Amino acid sequence: STLVVNAAQGRPMPDTLFGVFYEEINHAGAGGLWSELVNNRGFEAGGKKMPSNFAPWTIVGTETTIHVETELSSCFERNKVALRMDVLCDNCPFDGVGISNPGYWGMNIVKGKKYKVVFYYSSTGPLDLTVSFRDGQGGGAILGSSHIIKPNKKGAKWKKIESIITASASSPNAGITLRTTKKGTIWLDQVSAMPQDTYKGHGFRTDLVEMVQKLKPAFLRFPGGCFVEGVTLRNAFRWKESVGPWEERAGHFNDIWKYWTDDGLGFYEGLLLAEDVNATPIWVFNNGISHTDEIDTKDIQPFVQEALDGIEFARGPSSSKWGSLRASMGHPEPFVLKYVAIGNEDCGLKNYLGNYLVFHKEIRKYYPDILMISNCDASRKPLDHPADLYDYHIYPVDDVHMMFTNAEVFDHTPRNGPKAFVSEYALIGANIARHGTLIGGLSEAGFLIGLERNSDHVAMAAYAPLFVNANDRVWNPDAIVFSSNQVYGTPSYWVTYLFKESNGATFLNSTLQTTDPGTLAASAILVKDPQNKNTYLKIKIANMRKTQVDFKISIQGFASKNLKGSTKTVLTGNELDENSFAEPKKIAPQTSPLQNPGNEMNVIVQPTSLTILDMF
Ligand code: AHR
Repeated sequence: STLVVNAAQGRPMPDTLFGVFYEEINHAGAGGLWSELVNNRGFEAGGKKMPSNFAPWTIVGTETTIHVETELSSCFERNKVALRMDVLCDNCPFDGVGISNPGYWGMNIVKGKKYKVVFYYSSTGPLDLTVSFRDGQGGGAILGSSHIIKPNKKGAKWKKIESIITASASSPNAGITLRTTKKGTIWLDQVSAMPQDTYKGHGFRTDLVEMVQKLKPAFLRFPGGCFVEGVTLRNAFRWKESVGPWEERAGHFNDIWKYWTDDGLGFYEGLLLAEDVNATPIWVFNNGISHTDEIDTKDIQPFVQEALDGIEFARGPSSSKWGSLRASMGHPEPFVLKYVAIGNEDCGLKNYLGNYLVFHKEIRKYYPDILMISNCDASRKPLDHPADLYDYHIYPVDDVHMMFTNAEVFDHTPRNGPKAFVSEYALIGANIARHGTLIGGLSEAGFLIGLERNSDHVAMAAYAPLFVNANDRVWNPDAIVFSSNQVYGTPSYWVTYLFKESNGATFLNSTLQTTDPGTLAASAILVKDPQNKNTYLKIKIANMRKTQVDFKISIQGFASKNLKGSTKTVLTGNELDENSFAEPKKIAPQTSPLQNPGNEMNVIVQPTSLTILDMF
């Protein structure tokens, strides 16, 4: 095969081209990116019906020593459920009786690290409670503990306790227990445990944020996905429920992905996360449509107001109603919110267009600069409504060729309409994509090369989903896999990593001569080195074939400044290879000096590989 590159002719690619899509799916946030260790901290998981779900808390003690019940007695108006604990024994045996929480499949407690434990209580007598992190879920070795004694003061019924526990030993599978040896009744609510060393002190798990940051995402689309829609509107994510002090957030049942989320990672935290990873936020809001119910357009105004208020919360001055709430949460400066998406995957549903037009008109009226994203695909036929961008989602099922070549749909899209936002793409399927195979990643590499070619029309693209907690694989594959204390990237993650320099680079004219463009694709770009401001040439070759390809590369119009520094980076292995906690980098890019670099050169491209040539 031959690749001819003309480095003197090209066009700029959008600064926004590649970013990430964060959704509360697979316990990505609750039990993942959000560092809260306690699962169901407010005993709220069953909603307001009584008795509420106590799980995964368990009782420490026996029927004769302790009785535990949920009731609507909390001091927090929006989340009324609290726990009542009747301790029936005095001088209770062993370490006392109480409750225990396993976190999300075990808490990661690390020796020497500090953990902040907060809870609210009320009691019939003085409080004498021991809070401990313990190894395993059966009351194993104590990893850190705090003994809390408070006199029974008259006055405020509920009181807040804060305690810092320094771990004296480690376990990735710990739990927390609250125990007492004293008879009486204790009410508990909002029992939280957070490591002190979260990312920038913002509550995010540092190792997971670092994985995102490594991708240098230009944008962060959030918080869904179907999470925004819900199976029912009752359980859809609504931003107002997710802001303000964490103790006062109601939390809700993520009915589409089937778990309770306390909304610790709410709207504010989504905006903060985008800022922390230097990405432009793209807020997807509910447009009055879930998977099973829809609001009529004549009744949509409250949802429109909610969206307008959300925009004010994000970017209004701190003197404004909703901007002042943001300021009170610690961010007086407005967030830079320029994009909103009106719903998710709702095009064609009964009220989509009607509702959309009302949202569009109102948002345009108050925020003329905001770019609005429609759910309707305009790649093949023009939209019948105004939009700045349109969503395009693609999930071929085990069809690597369809994934590899799919960007061809944009080759013929007229350039005078709204731009494309490929807000979700991935190869899925149990046979080939599995939990994230090399061949799946390579099929996406071909697609991304096609998006680069079409980047005069495709403004943005993101792989989906971003995260999976390995204990809750609702959706496979995903880019980043984690447990309580481990993390790795799938081959798809490394593919997106290898495309991160495309944002804002120059796409060069190049021609690839090959017998089968369905399995081999290449692109050449000029990248501005942020260190020394020089530009360098990057050639990417995606090869899905099982055979090696001998490449002849001919480059015109490029004068290297440091030819000897040229490198070759290869992502390769067997087709169905996957990474795992045991072998987290089985499939990961390997960089070595490029042999015999020059404007005319021969390069061997390995079977099933993504090869990157960097010439400086
Ligand atoms: O990425 C997983 C899901 O796929 C998203 O929630 C939804 O938008 C799409 O159907």
